[in-house]
Amino acid sequence: MDNFTFYSPTYFAFGRGMEMQAGHYVKRFGGSKVLIHYGGGSAVRSGLIDRVKKSLEQEGLSYVTLGGVKPNPRSGLVYEGIELCRKEGVDFILAVGGGSTIDSSKAIAVGTPYEGDFWDFYAGKAQAQKSLPVGSVLTIAAAGSEGSDGSVITNENGMYKRPYGCELMRPVFAIMNPELTMSLPPYQTASGCTDIMAHVLERYFTNTKRVEITDQLCEGVLRTIIKELPKVLENPNDYEARANIMWAGTLAHNDVCGVGREQDWASHNLEHELSALYDCAHGAGLAVMFPAWMTYVMHHDVARFAQYAVRVWGCEMNFQNPEETAKEGIARTKAFFHSVGMPTSFAELGAKEEDIPKLLDTLQIDGRTEGFFVKLGRKECEEVYRLACC
Ligand code: NZQ
Ligand code: ZN
Repeated sequence: MDNFTFYSPTYFAFGRGMEMQAGHYVKRFGGSKVLIHYGGGSAVRSGLIDRVKKSLEQEGLSYVTLGGVKPNPRSGLVYEGIELCRKEGVDFILAVGGGSTIDSSKAIAVGTPYEGDFWDFYAGKAQAQKSLPVGSVLTIAAAGSEGSDGSVITNENGMYKRPYGCELMRPVFAIMNPELTMSLPPYQTASGCTDIMAHVLERYFTNTKRVEITDQLCEGVLRTIIKELPKVLENPNDYEARANIMWAGTLAHNDVCGVGREQDWASHNLEHELSALYDCAHGAGLAVMFPAWMTYVMHHDVARFAQYAVRVWGCEMNFQNPEETAKEGIARTKAFFHSVGMPTSFAELGAKEEDIPKLLDTLQIDGRTEGFFVKLGRKECEEVYRLACC
């Protein structure tokens, strides 16, 4: 096991009706003037925004609002949010929504006290030294942004997506009521669960040996999604299944499943270019990219893929030919994504093979590599994209 530090100070308030305590938690974490940031309207239609406003009012907190965050959140609204926060003297950002809203909130939070262009952080030109605190009321189990130190923003000037991560951006609290996720369309539910699985898989396929505790945590989260997702697709109001999925989403990405070893992240970065170019759901893009990446890198460590197949999917170990077991695990992964309504090829996603050079250009892969399990240069990334076409 590698040396590591782990500090994950988000306060989680989980369960039915918890959103009514939003005001209490904003106050507890030092907010007095709040920006309520939200998405394209689902939180307004469900009455959630009104309940959150009421909760803030009950605590005597004032607020301004900024809606309109799009999935794959855009830089333009971040600039707008920064301006609004400065003008109104906002000292706390409350994200009400999913990963896109929380990520946009985090970008506004580090951008407001910064004198330069907030994109400097995402372009790798500067490190954030200050941030407004961010809290969240989560409405979709997916990105894990409610407990993560990362944010992903799409730059509209070129339509490319970049992540930025720093400890300052980890939300101070996350309110998680599984009932709020019951209104999700099945496609979004499945896409969110695919993202959750991908967050674990990015950490599972590692070159660091013998970190059994982390292997078992990862396998438990994966098996939970495999068991619970079909239940919520069958019955969207299954509270217990929704609750298990929601908590799995946080555990998959607050790094408890990753510490102590090298992580990969090539599939995520290859996918980000897909969701930037085609504006597809991030999880759907991952359902296309992950099996392709697995197929490409499998021979690097067949035993690890065979372990995944046996422990996660219950495949029988073929001791004479472990490669067959490894392949079976990949096939089962792809079949599962398909069974829950996810695309598993470029065509099903609406992506085009002839766009691969464009994807490689926006990935800016020349002169560097993606991933750690196997390091992928431009040629290798291209081959993974080509495998994703079929
Ligand atoms: O905008 P509204 O109207 O709210 O609709 C959203 C959106 O269309 C809808 N939705 C959310 N909750 C709902 C609901 N519809 C009905 N009922 C509800 N309760 O779902 C759609 C997707 O929302 P979004 O916030 O985009 O989903 P998700 O949480 O999957 O976030 C995806 C973004 O997170 C980034 C992705 O790249 C993508 O941009 N990621 C962020 C990470 C992080 N910060 O740590 C890590 C991830 O790997 C990921 O890259
Ligand atoms: Zn993800």
